[in-house]
Amino acid sequence: MYRIRIHLIAAARPNFMKVAPLYHALASEPPFEPRIIHTGQHYDANMSDAFFTDLRMPDPHIHLGVGGGSHAEQTGGVMQAYERVALEERPEQVIVVGDVNSTLACALVAAKLSVPVIHLEAGLRSGDRSMPEEINRIATDAVSDLLWTPSHDACINLGAEGIRQERIDFVGNIMIDSYEALRPIIEADCTRRDWGLETRNYAVVTLHRPVNVDDMQRLELLIHHLRRVSKQVRTVFPLHPRTRKRLEEFGLLESLATAPNVMLTSPLGYVQFMNLVTGAKLVVTDSGGIQEETTYLGVPCLTLRENTERPITVTHGTNRLVTPEGLEAAVEEALSNPMQPSAIPLWDGRTADRCVASLKRRFGDREVSGKTAISRSNSRKAGVGSEASRVAQGAA
Ligand code: UD1
Repeated sequence: MYRIRIHLIAAARPNFMKVAPLYHALASEPPFEPRIIHTGQHYDANMSDAFFTDLRMPDPHIHLGVGGGSHAEQTGGVMQAYERVALEERPEQVIVVGDVNSTLACALVAAKLSVPVIHLEAGLRSGDRSMPEEINRIATDAVSDLLWTPSHDACINLGAEGIRQERIDFVGNIMIDSYEALRPIIEADCTRRDWGLETRNYAVVTLHRPVNVDDMQRLELLIHHLRRVSKQVRTVFPLHPRTRKRLEEFGLLESLATAPNVMLTSPLGYVQFMNLVTGAKLVVTDSGGIQEETTYLGVPCLTLRENTERPITVTHGTNRLVTPEGLEAAVEEALSNPMQPSAIPLWDGRTADRCVASLKRRFGDREVSGKTAISRSNSRKAGVGSEASRVAQGAA
């Protein structure tokens, strides 16, 4: 039987809960042959392996092992390593998710090999180009053939950048699929109980953005205010490797670790972390995905950033943008006056099914030549059979 080989690019912690539902949905639809390509951007067991286990994913089919480095080193390293794999494997489509360096790197490689690129979580914009992720989002969307958006604002952003509507499918928020698939396991997990945390009586804190943790004065200020917050509410703080390194480097770890009501932990797996978030009174973060998960769960979220690429979590959800100086007042307000989120369209646990339906629709008129509805709809590729096959054959 004819198989449609699809590469799913998984790279860093926030990618795994987006890739997993799509992998499971594609694996159960016989024409599709999903293959997980792990770039190795995140490599610690608790930043990567734990998620594959929790999300019931098989080991990656291919591991590029690229690791850390500067933005150029990381992006370039993934491009070089992935190009070799793409030429050898000749996927028919490449799906990239989110906004990390590997997302852009693999999208660029595939686009230049004329392999149709699909971006899951397309169209999000913070309007802040000082964030590396914003550059990755804009550039990835520009070279992608099909854009799967999580929310209506993302469709509007893409339209404003001149992207034609026929390249966009509004599929919803895939992270909610992961949560719903594992909800019984998350609810049965014992992390809260084992750590002596009383439901709705503690806060969860995560910080890892360079803008917050790479500058000593900013990090010191944040730690100062978080210590004060911990006097209002018991605080659990799983430390991202970047944050731990900076705290050590700046001599700030001790003052945080010794704060009486603060519990520092290693990065947690998906189930453990979501067990904590589900029962929290409040979350303080600078993550993107956590703004969405808290909105879905109705848990108040205070985001230590000046902007967000997920404005729907502010307009419809429980998210508020705060400054370090405004944190204590915002915590007090959130504790005494919790926000009521409204349901957001297509954040319903069925996004992966809509992605599969989108692929089937667009591959419905497949021709024997192997050209696809996606590649035909893109004039840039008109007349290109498959550059990847040509190069691969030439190389063989
Ligand atoms: C990356 C993403 C960011 C995402 C975040 C989630 C980009 C530009 N940034 O940032 O969008 O929100 O992942 O975590 O792609 N490290 C380890 N072990 C690991 C992973 C990283 O020790 O498993 C160390 C690295 O060596 C590096 C630091 O943590 O010193 C940062 O890692 P990196 O992948 O460069 O960026 P993140 O800050 O994780």
